[in-house]
Amino acid sequence: MNTVNPLYGRSLAVAGDLSVDEQRYLYRKTRELKENWRKNRNLESFRIRDPELAVYLMFLENSTRTKESFRNAACFHDVKLNVFDASSSSFTKSESLVDTVKMLFGYSRRSIFIMRTKMEGVCRALDEQVGEYAERIGMEKPVFINGGDGRHEHPTQEYLDEFTFLEHRNWDDSHLHVALIGDLHHGRTVHSKTEGLKAFHSVKVDLIAPEEMALPESYKSRMQENGFEVVEWGSIDEYLDGPDVSDTWYFTRLQLERMGDEIRERETELRKAVTFRKSHLDRLPEGARFFHPLPRHREKPVIPSFLDSTPLNGWDEQSVNGYFTRIIELAMVAGKLGDDFNGSSPVPESKEASFVSEVPVTRKTHVEDRFKVGIKPVENGIVIDHIAKGQPLEEIWNRVEKIRRILNLNVRSSHGVFHTNNPAEFKGIISLPDKQEISPTELKKLAAVSPGCSLNIIAESSVIKKFRLDMPPKIYNFAEISCKNPECVTYPEAYQHVTNYFFRTGGETFTCRYCGKRHAYGDIWDI
Ligand code: NCD
Repeated sequence: MNTVNPLYGRSLAVAGDLSVDEQRYLYRKTRELKENWRKNRNLESFRIRDPELAVYLMFLENSTRTKESFRNAACFHDVKLNVFDASSSSFTKSESLVDTVKMLFGYSRRSIFIMRTKMEGVCRALDEQVGEYAERIGMEKPVFINGGDGRHEHPTQEYLDEFTFLEHRNWDDSHLHVALIGDLHHGRTVHSKTEGLKAFHSVKVDLIAPEEMALPESYKSRMQENGFEVVEWGSIDEYLDGPDVSDTWYFTRLQLERMGDEIRERETELRKAVTFRKSHLDRLPEGARFFHPLPRHREKPVIPSFLDSTPLNGWDEQSVNGYFTRIIELAMVAGKLGDDFNGSSPVPESKEASFVSEVPVTRKTHVEDRFKVGIKPVENGIVIDHIAKGQPLEEIWNRVEKIRRILNLNVRSSHGVFHTNNPAEFKGIISLPDKQEISPTELKKLAAVSPGCSLNIIAESSVIKKFRLDMPPKIYNFAEISCKNPECVTYPEAYQHVTNYFFRTGGETFTCRYCGKRHAYGDIWDI
């Protein structure tokens, strides 16, 4: 195992799995490779050459470019290439992905799996599940590269797109003004742009799509959080009437196979809004160039074929770049390249930050004074106070009931809604005279379900300890929570046996670690 090279053995589940420095390293090396290849020079320093390294192409959804460029990249490297035939495999006998992969990686000393699935978050899940298994049996952890997972991400397409933009700009990474056009809702290549565009120091993004195909809010806010300027337009016509038209247009096709019937019925009208026409030509800025991850619809392409032999065509060179970037990606994760990398790598996940803080008990309040309105005073026990403080009454009652259900509080207790010191403001209280202790798991559940509440430990009718509970930074492995994206690898009915895991993002939203779906904190709960 190569311990110095930070790129060795890394899985690429999302574009952000490479830091910006690492992405730039990838582009630098690809540029070197492409130049040497063009000049017919020796390329040995890029080649892995290891018959014990297996590259598995596992494409459970159709693919042309991603699959063929990875296949050719693997052949370049002189490694063991396996093309997995999903249609005749045990998937048709309902085998789980992890069982299949565990078997395959036992055949070689080192393995790289390139996966395309409808299910989202598969590479992250396999990286963890198989990684743990590999450690247990003393094998080297396999690498998983996401070749497109549902509507989620397509990191290696992203890297080739950014490489192409840089190449087109003659390697100037100071600024990029890009227009993203088409089905931004379902298009995973666009979603990966939230992290990939960070390769440029300043970024302006114009989103051009009718509402039905608009970029999901969560990706838009991530772009804004990354410092991009984001402007939205409903159609190409509207955009061309605007004041600041970009010279870099990135089209995506309508992903009909991922659309519901209602949207599909309006295909003609939606397609029109994002299809380029002859009449648009003289409104383009000078030097404009079009890109597209391809494939194009042969009958109704958003970039019509009369543009193929014009200087607007940037998409053909773009698709060839997939071969060069993917050679370098394989070389990086296989440890052939990376020894000379000296930038920063992604920040490791932070350790469990505290969400429980003890607050001083200012005076040893006698419980009879404090919890006197309607609740029987507790001599010894626990009182949960400030539940949903300041919220509408209905929300406070809901929260009280939710806490009771989630903590399974079928014990002697009382609860109610009371006003705070301010007679116009309310809060919930639950008092538990038979409960002397609360476990860390219960505390976490309580914090997750009712952030901002407080916990009073009462002995001999006095509050002896008081804790304030904030929203925990991570919530995982609770039976009562689940990701609400039916395409997520953790979705219970997917039967991939992946434990749910959410981390807190921006205030009160929780993001699924696997498929990236953002949930309002109340929505992760099933009960
Ligand atoms: C894209 C994909 O599969 O997400 N194609 C590709 O990888 N070149 C875009 C698409 O299918 O529209």
